[in-house]
Amino acid sequence: MKILVIGGGGREHTLVWKIAQSKRVKSLYALPGNAGMAKIANCVDINPSNLSKVVDFAGKEGIDLTVVGPEAPLAEGIVDRFKEKKLNIFGPSREAARLEESKVFAKKIMQEHHIPTAQCEIFSDAEEAKRYVREVGAPIVVKADGLAAGKGVIIASTTHEAEEAIRAIMEDKIFGHAGDKVIIEECLRGEEISMLAFSDGENIVAMPSAQDHKRIFDEDKGPNTGGMGAYSPAPLQKEDFLRKIMEEVFIPLIRAMKSRGIPYVGVIYAGLMMTEHGLNVLEFNVRFGDPETQAVLPRLKGDLVDIAEGCINGNLKDVEVDWYNDAAICVVMASGGYPGKYEIGKKIYGLEEIGKLKDIYVFHAGTAFLNNEVVTSGGRVLGITAMGKDIEEAIKRVYDAVSLVKFESAQYRKDIGARALKRSGG
Ligand code: AMP
Ligand code: GLY
Repeated sequence: MKILVIGGGGREHTLVWKIAQSKRVKSLYALPGNAGMAKIANCVDINPSNLSKVVDFAGKEGIDLTVVGPEAPLAEGIVDRFKEKKLNIFGPSREAARLEESKVFAKKIMQEHHIPTAQCEIFSDAEEAKRYVREVGAPIVVKADGLAAGKGVIIASTTHEAEEAIRAIMEDKIFGHAGDKVIIEECLRGEEISMLAFSDGENIVAMPSAQDHKRIFDEDKGPNTGGMGAYSPAPLQKEDFLRKIMEEVFIPLIRAMKSRGIPYVGVIYAGLMMTEHGLNVLEFNVRFGDPETQAVLPRLKGDLVDIAEGCINGNLKDVEVDWYNDAAICVVMASGGYPGKYEIGKKIYGLEEIGKLKDIYVFHAGTAFLNNEVVTSGGRVLGITAMGKDIEEAIKRVYDAVSLVKFESAQYRKDIGARALKRSGG
């Protein structure tokens, strides 16, 4: 088969790496890819948001299966465009992708189908939203309805902060039309957990849990980032956790989407918060998580191509989806200054050495070639994943590996997985 992966980050490198292990693959393409993917796939220099060019490429090249990484092309309807041309693609339709594209849409589905989520009010008028905030007080959460590159959620600790957020989103339109509506939501407290699942529209199979680390500095300090590391499994699960997720979240969601005539096919990501009153869905994403994928997919035993096809063909229940018991942990190495301003073009040392280690995987995110050398080209540069018999072993192995890689001003968190260790009494 000829397989194409859309995207150019660490999640997509992991997808390419996993797909490359399938015996069914004859040639592999990444669009646009990066310096890491270039080792195992043909990188295609097309912008993923140029859907016409992407569809043309897949048609001309005779691609048998396309797997989509990021949300933007899904929200723009890449799956519908491929299907019009009878091209096989793994991901939700444009309508189904609204689960991530519109927080209001997701909230309405959750409310109608009794999927546990924070209480909220929806506003399309800024003054009304501000009045409501003054009425209920802080802390309170303000969310832009649409896609805002991960920046559309403001946890306001004062009503003034909340009002400022409403002004910025709805009046100054800092996220454009994504801010036409806002959700004002109760502020929950608890630990977060990411659950991903495969769905064929009717059946849904959960992947092992994971935990992301969104803040730049140790102990969850500093500004939010695209994710500085992740590990799997997450430690906070009681025995009936998976059953609860299936019964309270995934199964009602898949039924709700089907009953609306927009069956959900692809990977669904539920961002959950475990509060003292039980689990709550904070958000749905319509794709693999980044960097959760770098910690979850190395644990997949089976063939991702078979699973993707099972979803597309509606026979996921006939496909084996098995996992290794080993733990996995991914530490992200980022450019100095990220998530603010940072420099690029720094030579990366140690890649060859680390490449020789067993059960250590180096997933490239912001990397490129310059004069035949691999250099940094983005904020998040590498995701280094280690497997271990448990989190403790995985942590040791991953940090031993990270210490081999160097580039100027590199920064990474030293405490990825530490919380899990504490929980397990380690
Ligand atoms: P979201 O994009 O909806 O996942 O929100 C981004 C981040 O904001 C989440 O990962 C949480 O850390 C936080 N968050 C979102 N909703 C709430 C809420 N209702 N209460 C507290 N924190 C929240
Ligand atoms: N790790 C968060 C996300 O992928 O949205």
